Amino acid sequence: MSRVAATPSAIEDAAARIAAGGLVAFPTETVYGLGADATNPRAVARLFEAKARPVFDPIIVHVASVEQARTLWTSCPPAAEALMRAFWPGPLSLVLPKTPQVPDLVTAGLPMVAVRMPDHPVAARLIALSGRPVAAPSANRFGGVSPTTAEAVDEELGEAVDCILDAGPTRVGIESTVVAFEGGRPVLLRPGGVPLEALTSIVGEVDIGARRAGPSASPGMLERHYAPRTPLYLLAPTDARAGHAPAGQPLAAQRIGVLSLTPQGLPCPVAAAEVLSVSGDLVEAAAGLFQALRRLDQRALDAILAAPVPLQGLGRAIMDRLQRASQGHAWFSGGQLYAAPRP
Ligand code: TXA
Ligand code: MG
Repeated sequence: MSRVAATPSAIEDAAARIAAGGLVAFPTETVYGLGADATNPRAVARLFEAKARPVFDPIIVHVASVEQARTLWTSCPPAAEALMRAFWPGPLSLVLPKTPQVPDLVTAGLPMVAVRMPDHPVAARLIALSGRPVAAPSANRFGGVSPTTAEAVDEELGEAVDCILDAGPTRVGIESTVVAFEGGRPVLLRPGGVPLEALTSIVGEVDIGARRAGPSASPGMLERHYAPRTPLYLLAPTDARAGHAPAGQPLAAQRIGVLSLTPQGLPCPVAAAEVLSVSGDLVEAAAGLFQALRRLDQRALDAILAAPVPLQGLGRAIMDRLQRASQGHAWFSGGQLYAAPRP
């Protein structure tokens, strides 16, 4: 591993590594990605290996311009054009029919490729200088928490990476929104950095993609994903559980950590607490979410309890990641913690 500050000359070196089939971790506005030449199947194969990622999970291709994106797609419906105009560069990945230039390994054999143009000067320069479209999953081991700092990339992947370009913490903090099209109609496959409300303000109604476990149209929709090592539960309020919920199991958790949007309503006492935004700002909360999960993961806790956040704006993406990271619901009753593992 070599973690280097993302100076112009370091970006040049990194771009040369990508062009030569290497793996470079780099910052985007969402999370750090692990990049490889998307047109080089051997380089892409190394990506899967480095992440211990199953080959049924397709990878997003990153471009430096709309023109470059068009070389990867055979067609682009008007709704996709409108979304590109509104949100590129930015945290939005568009899934469209691929040209033969995109190896099957990148798309896990699917006829569609996800493409996005990141809104980060280091990413933009790296892609442009490499002269290649850059395939890049989040730079974590498969199923784990996405890295929002170069240190986190190092912890996750270390030796498996040729170079890590360090440009500090990422701005958005949560991965891109993934949108596919069915008969020209947009379908949300993964909520992310562009909120649903922003999509609908441009294209009207957006269908919500169905969740599936196992190989699927968007494996990032895998039920269990984005998870810390410590068991995480979504906090269910006691009164909401009373009466109608199935009885949970008592949890033998001595050391409990809590993740919540604001300081209000924290169950006490807890061994560790992470507040995402004192003022309840969901943009600030998204930016700090994965770092907060990493810190809690380092506190030797028996369980992490995550309080739900409002399902609006970036709250939808935050809840999506928390649900996928969780083992089920948990709640306090009579000073005892109970959990209902999800089916
Ligand atoms: O913000 C992001 O999207 C970050 C940065 C690095 O760009 N990347 C990222 O990549 O989150 P990854 O591999 O962790 O997640 C990619 C998501 C997965 O949910 C995957 O299933 C979906 O995009 N995806 C990729 N290609 C697809 C395709 N051809 N069809 C459907 N879904 C696709
Ligand atoms: Mg990922």
